Amino acid sequence: MCGIVGYIGHREAYPIIIEGLKRLEYRGYDSAGIALFDGNDLKISKTKGKVSDLEQRSEQEITKNGSLGIGHTRWATHGVPNDVNSHPHASNSGDLAIIHNGIIENYDALKKELISRGYTFQSDTDTEVLINLIEDVKKKENVKLGKAIQIALNQVIGAYAIAVFDKTKPGEVVIARLGSPLAVGIGKDEFFIASDASPFIEYTKNAIYLEDEEMAIIRLGKDIKIRKIKDDSLVDPYVQELQMNLEQIEKGGYDHFMLKEIHEQPRAIRDTYRGRLLRDKAIIKMAGVEDNMKKFLNADRIIIVACGTSWHAGLVAEYIFEEFSRIPVEVEYASEFRYRNPVITEKDVVIAISQSGETADTLAAIKLAKSKGAFVFGVCNVVGSSIARETDAGAYTHAGPEIGVASTKAFTTQITVLTLMALRLARAKGTMSSSDFRLHIQELELIPQKVEQLLKVDEHVKDIAKQYLLSTNCLYLGRGYNFPVALEGALKLKEISYIHAEGYPAAEMKHGPIALIDDRMPVIVIATSKGHYEKVVSNIQEIKSRKGKIIAIVTKGDTAVKEIADHVIEIPESEEAFSPLLTTIPLQLLSYHIAVMRNCNVDQPRNLAKSVTVE
Ligand code: F6R
Repeated sequence: MCGIVGYIGHREAYPIIIEGLKRLEYRGYDSAGIALFDGNDLKISKTKGKVSDLEQRSEQEITKNGSLGIGHTRWATHGVPNDVNSHPHASNSGDLAIIHNGIIENYDALKKELISRGYTFQSDTDTEVLINLIEDVKKKENVKLGKAIQIALNQVIGAYAIAVFDKTKPGEVVIARLGSPLAVGIGKDEFFIASDASPFIEYTKNAIYLEDEEMAIIRLGKDIKIRKIKDDSLVDPYVQELQMNLEQIEKGGYDHFMLKEIHEQPRAIRDTYRGRLLRDKAIIKMAGVEDNMKKFLNADRIIIVACGTSWHAGLVAEYIFEEFSRIPVEVEYASEFRYRNPVITEKDVVIAISQSGETADTLAAIKLAKSKGAFVFGVCNVVGSSIARETDAGAYTHAGPEIGVASTKAFTTQITVLTLMALRLARAKGTMSSSDFRLHIQELELIPQKVEQLLKVDEHVKDIAKQYLLSTNCLYLGRGYNFPVALEGALKLKEISYIHAEGYPAAEMKHGPIALIDDRMPVIVIATSKGHYEKVVSNIQEIKSRKGKIIAIVTKGDTAVKEIADHVIEIPESEEAFSPLLTTIPLQLLSYHIAVMRNCNVDQPRNLAKSVTVE
């Protein structure tokens, strides 16, 4: 977590850094800061709060001139969010400034050692320890900044993406990465540094993504030099052309990124299957699957590892893979999987799902699975992300940048990719007849237009939201393919509106949660016509007879549920296996409207960050 931005070149650094930090606020937003070299001296301004608070603070604190600077937006790990713990941090001499995304695990031992050598610390952060360690090495060994950073990083245990400059050598910035992302935008006589490419997209389309254990020395008027931190060997820079554009990372007239991203789903799902689902030829083509078909066909089982919403997409995929391709599937929280001693063999295929491609637990689970010989396939949204690079093969979701912290289009596009995979494998294994396959791909191709139609329920959902915005608890129920959607609906509500919500398989209600039902409990029930409908209707009746309030998601044309539910939201008819792509839409809208009506910060809910790069 945390977002970092840097600039060295011929423009004013301040506006580039501030705008860049705003684009990276999804990574953390409990404090922000900037360090500028104004031509004479190092100036730092930092504050608890958001980048907008930093703008106000820096107005009074610093002159905003200078073409060299670094900035940071924080998600606190060591030390509470306050002004002092905010980044950038300066070294004791005041010469060096650093920004850091990650955690230095052995900071305590390093700090004690530095204190014994006379260093003093203002903050509780691990980052201030690192910059003083760098300064100490630089002085002791009498080496240049790059070398000092390299020596210091070899003493450090943990994860980092850092950018450092020395006010006595203002033509240079040194950056390094281990476990946290770092991109460098290459302009004409200027360089941009950032956690992802969004801060510099309007300035250059050429970027280098640093790999783990690499550092780069960026000097004005010279080429960028990339080296391995461990052995100092030189690395050839690989310059990529960015596909992203500015429109994708702006709100485009919507009040919030989350709402924009909910409405983008028809386009996003189409982009996910574009070029893969070829209806005329009745085939599905996915390079990552084709190239590794033997691995999939010989697999004893598929293990899906992911966190949060991506884990919910994995649960939907479990139902789909087992139904279509008849491959046993296990779905694991990456954070649990990595710390168990899981039985994994070379005949296992591990699918890692991650929107950001940077989630630390998912990354660690991948490394564990690979070390045991499993073939690992990644389903990521962010192109070039750590998980995309660490996996043996993969498929991108092509959802476009997701900026709202609560995942929406990432979820539906993940399900789309996994459905395409399951269908492709079903054909290869012969577990689905060609006529069924054809019908399924026709159905899947219709989903975006059904989502478009469904998004028209927005005003109706808003009316329902008005009636429940003061609830303190909420229950979400679903069965089969829609049980994971119930979990996802509950997660969406709790993370952005702070209302406690639980998702349950509908049939499990009678084993405990039914005790919670009273006239103040809204229960959102997914009751699609092909999804164990009669059983779910009985569950609804059980809730009604205990005075619970029912908000039902039903298939168009439903009559039975309409008679007993307090509210119904209709979704278009579809194949049950594809219904999660539809049922999830009104649940996203419901959470969104409730959160807006409760005056919550929908795009940046408290305590959260978009990219969870810590354990
Ligand atoms: C919830 C949400 C999180 C993420 C989780 C995994 O709306 O966004 O639960 O799904 O942190 O993130 P990724 O998919 O980036 O690995």
